[in-house]
Amino acid sequence: MPDLTPVSGFPTRRMRRLRRTSALRRLVAETTLSVDDLVAPLFVADGLDVPRPVASLPGVSQHTVDSLVSEVRRLAGLGVPGVILFPLPRNQDKDATGSAALSPDGITRRAIEAVRTAVGDDLVIMADCCLDEFTDHGHCGIVDPDTGDVDNDATVQLYADLAVVQASAGAHVIAPSGMMDGQVAAIRGALDRAGHADAAVLAYAAKYASALYGPFREAADVTIAGGGDRKGYQQDFRNGREALAEVALDVAEGADMVMVKPALTYLDVVADVRALVDVPVAAYHVSGEYAMVKAAAERGWIDGPAVALEQVTAVKRAGADFVLTYFAGELAEALHG
Ligand code: PBG
Repeated sequence: MPDLTPVSGFPTRRMRRLRRTSALRRLVAETTLSVDDLVAPLFVADGLDVPRPVASLPGVSQHTVDSLVSEVRRLAGLGVPGVILFPLPRNQDKDATGSAALSPDGITRRAIEAVRTAVGDDLVIMADCCLDEFTDHGHCGIVDPDTGDVDNDATVQLYADLAVVQASAGAHVIAPSGMMDGQVAAIRGALDRAGHADAAVLAYAAKYASALYGPFREAADVTIAGGGDRKGYQQDFRNGREALAEVALDVAEGADMVMVKPALTYLDVVADVRALVDVPVAAYHVSGEYAMVKAAAERGWIDGPAVALEQVTAVKRAGADFVLTYFAGELAEALHG
């Protein structure tokens, strides 16, 4: 009998063997990041003549409607399957209830219509459904003058109206991001009654009150009055189980897809949500996550594109089906080689 005892250190050498060449690594990779996994967040501002770069988000601009359309066309050409739009009013149009969001000839409608006309169904148009960009106090809804808190139910009613405006302008997906209780059910009901049963709802289901939204607030020109915060309606970063309850409620209310936000500080939540539900799970790699990579790369401290790829792939590995990220365009270019 020949001696069949492996002499090469089986099984301890298996890992090394399979890491030896790039082709072997590709063959056994558990996670693949594809252009199909990316959604680009885009800002479009009313009253701009030329796009305005956002200092804390290098490579990101507030667009004019025209430059927004060109950017969406460029992303569609790169194969990016989705964009999420953040329309921004002129400063003087902000008020206590965010009424400019709903205005029939306002930036919400004009931006979504222009994009839909340009790309049709070739790319998924998502609309962030919230009011903080439109309120003069910077909260995500109507503030109750007696308590100083956001009035949940009055706000939900406005979200329902906004969702109908967004869907009728051509948004394929409505993405409520205000973390009001009952917002998904109210939006689903309003969409159905208005003849938009086909418009899908992507719920920002587990959205944390995060310090990582800083650059977004610059991009969207949002300041919360009196140095306030959103801790009364967004989630506490110490809580994970609570996220699962939020997600379960949103799915029960009719969410077609659910989102965890931010992404990297909440990969445990992404993994748990993936295990809990069968609907598609998204994660939002937010402005602060992007800005940190850009800032360190600018100083030559890290390899920016490599870190971007590593981070966004990690979000997929944790269980996200797709990732909203300001790196979408750059990653799409890189993935095309
Ligand atoms: C609310 C909204 C926010 C973000 C997306 N939708 C800001 C907030 O909740 O304060 C943040 C996105 C990011 O930081 O990239 N409309």
